[in-house]
Amino acid sequence: MTRLLVTAAAVGLAAGVATAPADAAPKAPSPGAAGIGDAYYPLDGNGGYDVGHYDIRLSYRPAGDELSGTTTITAKATQDLSRFNLDFLLKVSTLRVNNVPAKFATDGGELTVTPAKPIAKGTNLTIVVTYDDSPGKYKLYGFNAWKRTADGGALATDEPQIAPWWFPSNDHPLDKATFDVSIAAPKDFAVLSNGTFAGKSTQGNGLVRWNWRSAKPQGTYETSLVVGKYQVNFQTAPNGQPFVTAYGADLANPDQARASVERTPEILEFESTQFGPYPFEAQGGVVSTGLGFALENQTRPTFSDDFFTDGSDTYVVAHENAHQWFGDSVSVAGWRNIWLNEGFASYAETLWSEYLGEGTAAEVNQYAYDSIPADDPFWQVLPGDPGPDNQFDDAVYTRGAMALQALRTAVGDADFFKILKKWTKTRQYGNGTIEQFVGLAENVSGKPLQSLFTTWLFTAGKPAVGPNGASVSKALVAPKSFAKIRATDRKLAAAGG
Ligand code: TRP
Ligand code: ZN
Repeated sequence: MTRLLVTAAAVGLAAGVATAPADAAPKAPSPGAAGIGDAYYPLDGNGGYDVGHYDIRLSYRPAGDELSGTTTITAKATQDLSRFNLDFLLKVSTLRVNNVPAKFATDGGELTVTPAKPIAKGTNLTIVVTYDDSPGKYKLYGFNAWKRTADGGALATDEPQIAPWWFPSNDHPLDKATFDVSIAAPKDFAVLSNGTFAGKSTQGNGLVRWNWRSAKPQGTYETSLVVGKYQVNFQTAPNGQPFVTAYGADLANPDQARASVERTPEILEFESTQFGPYPFEAQGGVVSTGLGFALENQTRPTFSDDFFTDGSDTYVVAHENAHQWFGDSVSVAGWRNIWLNEGFASYAETLWSEYLGEGTAAEVNQYAYDSIPADDPFWQVLPGDPGPDNQFDDAVYTRGAMALQALRTAVGDADFFKILKKWTKTRQYGNGTIEQFVGLAENVSGKPLQSLFTTWLFTAGKPAVGPNGASVSKALVAPKSFAKIRATDRKLAAAGG
């Protein structure tokens, strides 16, 4: 699903994966690019087609880590194609393109599809892929993202790559699509994914099939599969939306998890006042053991139980739900723009702190600035272009949040929240780059802001002036709970890789 034109420069086009410009003279059908053009992950996503919908219809047998069934993709060719790629790790049994069997080969996360005849630009494609394999045995970039859990289940939740372990896709936030996820599992397991619950039924073979639907454009990494022993609660939020939460039966601190995640509707109400209307059709959260991190899965973030070992933590819930605006609805146009996700979700934690009366956003960000010495390596990572190895470094989160406080100081409260709301509105269900955000901030405020962003996002070293300006020179009191939660967040992100 392409909502806006993204130039190669905006995505940070990697060398060697360029596709022909759309206005080039017609020529022979050619292979779709093996990558969509991401500077950090050159093979992520693909060229030559645009996906509209994924219909994922599988069975999972946890005992043998066996995932089998069919994914049907509807897409449109965006060039004359001799062949094209999908991102997928598992062994494929059969593959049809518009009902005709196609040749295929999988290698290192790339599934190359050669249709019987070339495909003309503009053709609607129905790609049907059947498979039966064990996701646990595969690695991509040296890493196995498919997680088996102590309850015997499995979790497909990771970032930036998770889809290749369970469905073939155009695996990049630039190509979002709607999803129907239908998974059958043994009857003592619950199955969760995103969006609205569309019922479950017992099959003849005894497996219970759970059906989930995501009606709004969704990125592949925001799409989750949760199979395990959970207590699942189907509720209705005050705004009338389905509110689905699930808590692992083996949680050490189930009450602390509930005291946090059950507040999701209140958190979304608060965040709507800051960021604009909630962009999706359902709400919720999943708490699991053995995850090691939290992730912004669309409409239903996933949380490790580690977040709740010292009591409730509504900050992590505020963080993952802020990503529904910043990350899920407005997605990065390339992974180098990760500040648009993590800087904003971290800033949202400081707004939530203010809502709770545990320190204002200005205080919390000032404290972070004051408490990290200038010679700390923290200041060497550039939040605006951290590189793939530092994509989730603390600097992207914490210095990233400070950058937003610095913007707020420069433009004032009224323009600051106008900028945030205009960003989420104009780019809803689409993508964005840092440069586009800076442009919007300059437009709304009428102020030149290049040097502010250069200082906070693109220059190594501690900025000479803090996020609240030169007149604020000493550390305000740190809200204890917030500082603790940031530390926990960092520790968990590092542990999760
Ligand atoms: N985006 C996640 C967050 O909300 C953190 C994260 C970074 C992550 N890398 C990950 C989660 C890898 C799962 C896997 O901050
Ligand atoms: Zn985050």
